[in-house]
Amino acid sequence: MRKKIVAGNWKMNTTIKEAEVLVKDLTALVDEFDTDVDIIVCPPFTHLDSVARLLAKQYDEKEKIYLGAQNCADHTSGAYTGEVSVNMLKSVNCKYVILGHSERREYYHENSASLYEKIELALNAGIIPIFCVGEKLEERESNRHFEVVAEQIKDVLYRLKGAEMSKIIIAYEPVWAIGTGKTATSEQAEEMHAYIRKVVADKFGDVADIVPILYGGSCKPSNAQEIFSKPNVDGGLIGGASLVAKDFVDIVKSF
Ligand code: 13P
Repeated sequence: MRKKIVAGNWKMNTTIKEAEVLVKDLTALVDEFDTDVDIIVCPPFTHLDSVARLLAKQYDEKEKIYLGAQNCADHTSGAYTGEVSVNMLKSVNCKYVILGHSERREYYHENSASLYEKIELALNAGIIPIFCVGEKLEERESNRHFEVVAEQIKDVLYRLKGAEMSKIIIAYEPVWAIGTGKTATSEQAEEMHAYIRKVVADKFGDVADIVPILYGGSCKPSNAQEIFSKPNVDGGLIGGASLVAKDFVDIVKSF
């Protein structure tokens, strides 16, 4: 049985005050129902500690919402101005880190070599990577989407050991669907998720069966249920809709 996961990627949004309001609204809504979905919020670095404290106060026994970061450094410590290490993330109770988001690949030139380093550092620190893959519009239009996604997986994840792979979460985020309001159809998502699972199985065998694969890209309350109904879709990585407490929680409830 694979885990069901809904993660909110807040990207570069919210002030600390706004983040605190959002977390309070979220916890109030989440406390109204029981769920077997792992709920994760990934605020900007500057907000992690405040959000961690709010969550700890709310959930002193069983956590219902977990904390994730949006990136980490590809070195452990030292003279890397502006970077944030996995140990720093751990010190604020981060359990997850998003790695290889298309915005980071595109605007900050992240490549497979540094993503592999980041994944290794995160795993060694006990932080679970949410590794993002996805094709651009022109790649889908030229029918290269499977090839592109397979390459993103092989270049990074094929370097892991089986035991490491069993801890990874993959997020399929077609670049053309991110922030555009244009969602992949549930058939397109399922087709790619099944393919991703096969690419993982080709190298790691049965481990592929336990790797959660999340869909991301204009996922919202109105389309989440349809997308999550597909057998290889294990949840969502949500951008815009994760900034509105009710929308995010409605997406969680879509399972
Ligand atoms: P949107 O949900 O805003 O399209 O963003 C998706 C995303 O990039 C999540 O990481």
